[in-house]
Amino acid sequence: MSNGSYPAMLSLPLKPPISLNFKTLNPSKIKCCKSQIETERGHSFDTGDTFFRHESSTGRDLAVLSAAVHKKTHNSLRVLDAMCGCGIRSLRYLAEANADFVLANDANQDYGELISGNLEKAGVGKERWAVKHLEANRLLTERYLERDYFDLIDVDSFGSDSSFLRSAMCAVKLDGLMYVTCTDGYSSGGHRPQHTLAAYGAYVKPMPYSNEIGLRMLIGGALREASVLGYHVVPLFSCYSYHGPVFRAMLQLKRGKFPIKRHYGFISYCVQCGNSQSISWDKLSQMRCSCNNVPGSLVVSGPLWTGPLHNTSFLTEMLNLAEDWGWLGNETGKRMENLLNIMIGESDPKLPFGYIKVDEVSSRGKINSPRLNSLLHALHKEGYAASRSHIASNAIKTNCPMVDCVRLAKELQLCSVTDDEKLNRFIEA
Ligand SMILES: C[S@@+](CC[C@H](N)C(=O)[O-])C[C@H]1O[C@@H](n2cnc3c(N)ncnc32)[C@H](O)[C@@H]1O
Repeated sequence: MSNGSYPAMLSLPLKPPISLNFKTLNPSKIKCCKSQIETERGHSFDTGDTFFRHESSTGRDLAVLSAAVHKKTHNSLRVLDAMCGCGIRSLRYLAEANADFVLANDANQDYGELISGNLEKAGVGKERWAVKHLEANRLLTERYLERDYFDLIDVDSFGSDSSFLRSAMCAVKLDGLMYVTCTDGYSSGGHRPQHTLAAYGAYVKPMPYSNEIGLRMLIGGALREASVLGYHVVPLFSCYSYHGPVFRAMLQLKRGKFPIKRHYGFISYCVQCGNSQSISWDKLSQMRCSCNNVPGSLVVSGPLWTGPLHNTSFLTEMLNLAEDWGWLGNETGKRMENLLNIMIGESDPKLPFGYIKVDEVSSRGKINSPRLNSLLHALHKEGYAASRSHIASNAIKTNCPMVDCVRLAKELQLCSVTDDEKLNRFIEA
């Protein structure tokens, strides 16, 4: 395997592997970075010249909570942080999730001293962490060859580089976790279907809920890779953040191939009626929307993950832990609590993929936008599954067809007009 196979990544000179101990690095390779002190969850650390984003702190919070929940049930937490940057995640896995061991890796050798300086701040014995500077695939493959498996592998990669999925799967334990990332919103938006086909095996077209499609493309791509190895993955949670944008999924590796008909298929959106449906593999040739026979009314993407984005009980444990850790009181705490609660709502297995923007309901019904909470209430009253979406604040996830969403929104508007009229009469009287 030559470095030339990874054009989108850091290009590294061919060299023998570096020892696990950062102190054995060639001192001439260690350059001083400028110092830039940051604080996150009470940890002070230096980011120097590394790539660091404050906005990613929620993604790190979710990672640390998951790691701690996993340790509680599996009694072991060995973490491989394959693209650690300044090492903030590694520091937090050690200090907050009480990881037994963390292997912090960043291909950039210039970060060596900085990462080690930050990990020393975890206040744990030096036998509990090590720093490496290998290309991530090389490190993951090396650990696999050594039969040195990890409970959690975190790959905070850029763009839509999916080459880490298979090597991470090889180095993670069965039932272990993989925290994977995609930052390619252009592709998930359906603007480069050839590219998403190459990266995740999914032909993605522009859909009204493209940011959810980004998560489903990432999970689906991982599922496809896992099946090659005789495994499957299930998402414990998945999270979209608009900065970047960043699509993240915490996946659990399970034994056995996934049944192809379950939660992995094509998704269609009908521009005519606004309904979405999943199309099973054996019905591909009969693809059409039940609303009409107009050819070309369907936009189709896939194959993608079509199942729940999250696991309810895992998220509930994360929420409970966040409360135990005192994370839920202040303003940041409210945001975290809100996010986890919305994700728990979204994890209802009765909810299909996608979301409906309230503005689409109002424009189809030619009415003012209904209040999101009123629409949710009305949907629940009629027996539909419905929740908010953590991806789009003015959207709902529901198994209610568009035509009934529009009907309910119109009824809500009638009620509110009646209330306004009552108020006017009261004022006039
Ligand atoms: C998004 S940044 C990491 C940020 C960090 N995880 C955090 O939470 O602050 C990605 C890092 O991966 C490193 N990197 C890029 N390509 C790599 C590769 N193929 N193997 C290992 N590290 C790589 C970069 O040097 C960069 O520091």
